[in-house]
Amino acid sequence: MSTVLSAVAWPYANGPRHIGHVAGFGVPSDVFSRYMRMAGHDVLMVSGTDEHGTPILVEADKQGVSARDLADRNNRLIVEDLVALGLSYDLFTRTTTRNHYQVVQDMFVTVRDNGYMIEQPTRGAISPSTGRTLPDRYIEGTCPICKTPGARGDQCDACGNQLDPTDLIDPVSRINGETPEFIETTHWFLDLPALAAELGRWLDEREATGLWRPNVIRFSQNILEDIRPRAMTRDIDWGIPVPGWEDQPNKRLYVWFDAVIGYLSASIEWARRTGDPDAWKKWWNDPQALSYYFMGKDNIVFHSQIWPAEMLAQNGAGDKGGEPGAFGELNLPTEVVSSEFLTMEGKKFSSSKGVVIYVRDVLERYQPDALRYFISAAGPENQDADFTWSEFVSRTNNELVAGWGNLVNRTAAMIAKNVGEIPAAGELEDVDRRLLEAIREGFTTVGDLIERHHQRNAIAEVMRLVGVANRYVSETEPFKMKAEEQRPRLLTVLHVLAQAVTDLNTMLAPFLPHSANAVEKALGGERIIAPMPRIEEVEDLDGGPGYPVITGDYTDVPAWGHHPVTPGRPVSKPTPIFVKLDPKVAEEELARLEAETTEG
Ligand code: MF3
Ligand code: ZN
Repeated sequence: MSTVLSAVAWPYANGPRHIGHVAGFGVPSDVFSRYMRMAGHDVLMVSGTDEHGTPILVEADKQGVSARDLADRNNRLIVEDLVALGLSYDLFTRTTTRNHYQVVQDMFVTVRDNGYMIEQPTRGAISPSTGRTLPDRYIEGTCPICKTPGARGDQCDACGNQLDPTDLIDPVSRINGETPEFIETTHWFLDLPALAAELGRWLDEREATGLWRPNVIRFSQNILEDIRPRAMTRDIDWGIPVPGWEDQPNKRLYVWFDAVIGYLSASIEWARRTGDPDAWKKWWNDPQALSYYFMGKDNIVFHSQIWPAEMLAQNGAGDKGGEPGAFGELNLPTEVVSSEFLTMEGKKFSSSKGVVIYVRDVLERYQPDALRYFISAAGPENQDADFTWSEFVSRTNNELVAGWGNLVNRTAAMIAKNVGEIPAAGELEDVDRRLLEAIREGFTTVGDLIERHHQRNAIAEVMRLVGVANRYVSETEPFKMKAEEQRPRLLTVLHVLAQAVTDLNTMLAPFLPHSANAVEKALGGERIIAPMPRIEEVEDLDGGPGYPVITGDYTDVPAWGHHPVTPGRPVSKPTPIFVKLDPKVAEEELARLEAETTEG
């Protein structure tokens, strides 16, 4: 049994989240966490909304509301969406809590005192027409490294390198097209070069495990070559105050400096809320503990370089030495599990252009497990993937409804009609044993695949076994066993089917938690197979305003593996678990998209 941290990327609270986001960080982290709990590990799954930085500020300006009000509104919407999708966070909080502010400031102070923050004058961009500072990501120009136009002042999406606005060739403001003016300003820089050797050692060690996705490890090692100090403060008035600069409220900590610390502060908040304030330490300080970070690929830099560097600096483990701060020796990530991008109907998601499908809209119209199924079976796990409405409809109808749903339904229906309860088995025949054994072996195969983040292959293997079970029905033909002397055989076949469905349902529970509970009920069970998250309105622990969190009790789950069915359990006529979609759905959704897309 291991201690496992599931660290899930923090969605920005500048708007509701679209299905590309939950395909990147949401569903994969939940499938993994649910499986690891069933496999007996001690999982802590944390995240929250990322509420600082320019994206929030710019959106708030646009809507004429305060950054805080905008963050409040979107935090709640995001919380509701993630709960509706069944994501089983132990704690989903936000970056505007007092606890988070404190942890971030403590971290900053230790990193600075250990010598890894350099105060340095630099050039910052302002808009010549308004005199306001221009956020990095609102400056655009040609990337100095790969020479692609349209790179942002913080990062080039084409080559993935982090940039400074002053690096850009021909910079212009994305807000009004003017050329920014650069003025002198002072910031705190994280001394990444002094941490590079340690980062390199850690990455080499990670590479040697062979577990990281090749793209992720390669990219992480490449960016080490061009490592240099990075500003961890910004000229902005929305963010966490910089310790020591309380008299300069227009300078705040950089959003990324604070957001990644959220993993730690959320673990601490979770521990404080359980009444055992030190409980977080076993996930962070025990060198045996494992930590997995889930995100989309535009976040890799921050999880394989900035966050580990912050931890090494806090630990006093870089070239400049130092002492571990208040958080002790923090564990570096076991694995940065990054997915690729999801496009839709062949296009890049873009909220501003209306090329977007919000999680909320999908969940209002379709079952959450239909979306989870699509993401698990066809998501951007190892390469970019495309969401199309026609594939969503065909996968739902052909695989969920006609495959798994049909197996559950006819099993429960035949048992209800012929017996009314789970029958006991007579002597098993070869064909029965073959089915049950194939499924039992599935637990090992599927479990290993999930543990190694090969979820597409994992769910494909379960669905292959569903196919084997459906073929068993056509081969044994229990629906034709009407004669009295066939009754013992009928009961055996129905018992075998009930067992097959039960085991397959256990295997599908991490992927399809809502229907797992429904399938269990359909076979007369009363257990919660997949516990659901809930929203709780909480007080801020340190006197700030209250807020909603996602939490839940996920400890009471069936162990991953075969559980014998209980003969005698009443089974009544089932209602279908999955909703079959009208093929017209694809056309309707496309028409809706067309209407919302503003060609830009
Ligand atoms: N808000 C960032 C994004 O959506 C992700 C932050 S992950 C964190 O790209 F760890 F830094 F919080
Ligand atoms: Zn580039």
